[in-house]
Amino acid sequence: VSGATFINAPDADYADAEQRDRALQSIQWVRQRLGKRYQPLIDGVYVATDAHIDSLNPSNFSEIVGQVGLINVEQADRAIQAAKAASLGWQKTPATERASILHTAANLMTQRRDELAAWMVFETGKPLNEANGEVSEAIDFCRYYADEMERLDAGVAYDFPGETNHYHYQALGIVVVISPWNFPLAIPTGMAVAALVAGNCVLLKPAETSSVIIAKLTEILVEAGIPQGVFQYVPGKGATVGAHLVKHPQTNMITFTGSQEVGCRIYADAAILQPGQKHLKRVVAEMGGKNAIIVDESADLDQAVQGVVQSAFGYSGQKCSACSRVIVLEPIYDLFLQRLVEATRSLNLGRADHPSTRVGPVIDAAARDRILEYIEKGRQECELALEMPSLEGGYFVGPVIFHDVPPTATIAREEIFGPVLAVMRAQSFVEALELANGTQFALTGGLYSRTPSHIEQARADFEVGNLYINRGITGAIVARQPFGGFKLSGVGSKAGGPDYLLQFLEPRVVTENI
Ligand code: SER
Repeated sequence: VSGATFINAPDADYADAEQRDRALQSIQWVRQRLGKRYQPLIDGVYVATDAHIDSLNPSNFSEIVGQVGLINVEQADRAIQAAKAASLGWQKTPATERASILHTAANLMTQRRDELAAWMVFETGKPLNEANGEVSEAIDFCRYYADEMERLDAGVAYDFPGETNHYHYQALGIVVVISPWNFPLAIPTGMAVAALVAGNCVLLKPAETSSVIIAKLTEILVEAGIPQGVFQYVPGKGATVGAHLVKHPQTNMITFTGSQEVGCRIYADAAILQPGQKHLKRVVAEMGGKNAIIVDESADLDQAVQGVVQSAFGYSGQKCSACSRVIVLEPIYDLFLQRLVEATRSLNLGRADHPSTRVGPVIDAAARDRILEYIEKGRQECELALEMPSLEGGYFVGPVIFHDVPPTATIAREEIFGPVLAVMRAQSFVEALELANGTQFALTGGLYSRTPSHIEQARADFEVGNLYINRGITGAIVARQPFGGFKLSGVGSKAGGPDYLLQFLEPRVVTENI
């Protein structure tokens, strides 16, 4: 069945001088607005808080991008009550009206594309061209889930002589969205608007390091017409406020993207029936990966080198979809390694707001220190092929490649979430597939090959949610590559795909004897 009817938003084209200038002017415009204060939105009001965090620019950590007020547990309770109060009215709002608010939000994002991209550049150290693609993805999520809701809202009539059977959907109630910093706009937008268009009320708790961009998303949703109490922006500490929202008896669903450790804790906490709770909670959790690309002896090496470099070092390897292992067949191993090292050496490491930067900083000091520990472990257990120097002033880690990495090495098994790539040697294609599958994760995977039997075997046996053949393994596009994994990579159906909205809905059947 063909599913290709959705039209994706085009990225800004930086080859066009006018569009490029606009993007660079937005960088300046945002630079002049750094350091402002942002407050949580509860029941339609921006509220005062007794605590706040400074969100820093990872490219230059002496620069405060914004100060963000953090709610406490009492304020979290107030937000839940506001959501409860708004819930019935929103559920009864016709799906077409809810969908039209998402279309308005998509239009506002289109108007503010350059500014939104610039906020991501400053707050999360994402190089401009990648931030550009992310705005498109956020727009796509709004439009796609709006269309999807209109499709599902039609329901199904399973009528029979003498009776009508109406199969239809209703909202769950209150959805807590806990979002990551690595796709600071697209992922939270997708999770939140899916829940909203399905008729749920949303409390969005962003990762601390990307809470300014979520303040911008909040402005957009409010301007688009999301009613008071239906969407609330609730930055707060994960260990206190986040945990409280997950365990709250009125919460119906938690949708989370982030680390495996936190995802597993949310899954467990959500399973406990709290006093007064009259339902079981649903959890959608998108977690980690230890994604591999296999390069066989028939591969086009120009393509393979470029695809591996982009997949491993794009956004400094901080994508759950990133390539962190490349498994290379013996006959081309040495040649591939040499070309991979040279191609990586040519990447520009620098501040994310500089147009020529290919690899920016990592998100914060904790991430940098954790990645450096992995590099140290790698040095003890494996051989270095390349270590690029870091820079001062920001959380920079230069790209690192280890070669002849055994499958038992720590860096071959654990998710690093940084610019560190393990190159592994395989004697046969069967061994390469075994190595690729020898992980607890199943998110993305790739194969560079021109051998039909290898391609067939990978299609059948490569255990990943998203398999990419003869291209890079990051940058899934809404309604083209619905995205998500299984095994310990997560629970739930694919974002940007036809099953996603169903997770936010309760199906019902009404039978009438006539
Ligand atoms: N959807 C992103 C990608 O494909 C990861 O979240 O890279």
